[in-house]
Amino acid sequence: MAIYQATTSAPVNIACIKYWGKRDTKLILPTNSSLSVTLDQDHLRSTTTSRADPSFKKDTLWLNGQEELIKDGGRMATCIAELKRLRKELVEDKDPDAPKLSTFPVHISSFNNFPTAAGLASSASGFAALVSSIATLYALPCDASALSLIARQGSGSACRSLFGGYVAWEQGTSPSGEDSYAVQIAPQSHWPDIHALICVVSDDKKGTSSTSGMQRTVETSPLLQHRIKHVVPQRMADISKAILERDFDTFAKITMADSNQFHAVALDTEPPIFYMNDVSKAIIALVVEYNRVAVLKTGKVKAAYTYDAGPNAVIYTPKENVKEIVQMIVKYFPQKEAFKDVFGIFGVQGVQGAVVD
Ligand code: DP6
Repeated sequence: MAIYQATTSAPVNIACIKYWGKRDTKLILPTNSSLSVTLDQDHLRSTTTSRADPSFKKDTLWLNGQEELIKDGGRMATCIAELKRLRKELVEDKDPDAPKLSTFPVHISSFNNFPTAAGLASSASGFAALVSSIATLYALPCDASALSLIARQGSGSACRSLFGGYVAWEQGTSPSGEDSYAVQIAPQSHWPDIHALICVVSDDKKGTSSTSGMQRTVETSPLLQHRIKHVVPQRMADISKAILERDFDTFAKITMADSNQFHAVALDTEPPIFYMNDVSKAIIALVVEYNRVAVLKTGKVKAAYTYDAGPNAVIYTPKENVKEIVQMIVKYFPQKEAFKDVFGIFGVQGVQGAVVD
């Protein structure tokens, strides 16, 4: 008996230009384009195995070993249904000898190689790994951009994790979403010097989920309208150029400005949303001071902070500064032994961290 099974993995990505707001909540179509850096495969990633078998009773999902409900009509069910549809259309209808995998229930098992307790968003890597695993199982003749159309319907930011390196999610204009997909701006090898330092400030589950928070912002924030129309398009063009030219100073300034504006838009929401805490703000102050001194000496900044929908900091910096920044953070946020092994690099009280390259 043939076994139909595939395993793939996808890394976490961290946005420099933030996605925040949907124009279509079912199809997950964004109100603005976004751009991120996909972290290295070795560090923070989801690995997913999927298997199709006629003896299975129903589609079933396990996350880190725990069975999770696949809600009818929910995001997970949508992704699986889309992949089955493509299997039928692109493979089975074209080749009468191809096994009818689209008619078999599928079992999916996904693991993250980073602790859930680290408080890092796993929906991006999770949905990207799920889509690429089932696409491999089904031998779909689709490129990563085509698969990103499906991952997008699992979680918007997931579409960007189908590529490595520097990745844009073009918002698109079509109401059907066919032109709202991810594209690679440059592979990691184009600019391998950039490192991401993850500072886990808190592992508490965040108060307001991205999904509900961004919808509230769309409904109530006048600042979001300004951001969508007058800020993001120029930033997308400028940061893409900075990446292609390996211009860290511009890349860093845009990344920090966009993180600031995203949190300003959260505050402009009614009722307001706060994602950063006092430790997050202390890290911003530290990076600002570090950059102030760097600009005095060299005219250019050395580090960029960015925060998603939670208090954890990600600091982008060229490799030559990583050691100095780690030492600086450890100095201001004293070491906490318990977390040393979690990331293998360093752990600090209030801030636990990992260096990801
Ligand atoms: C702040 O992709 O988690 O991280 O599409 O509703 O699943 P849904 O939202 P999600 O939002 C991510 C928001 C962000 C910014 C970003 O990654 O671009």
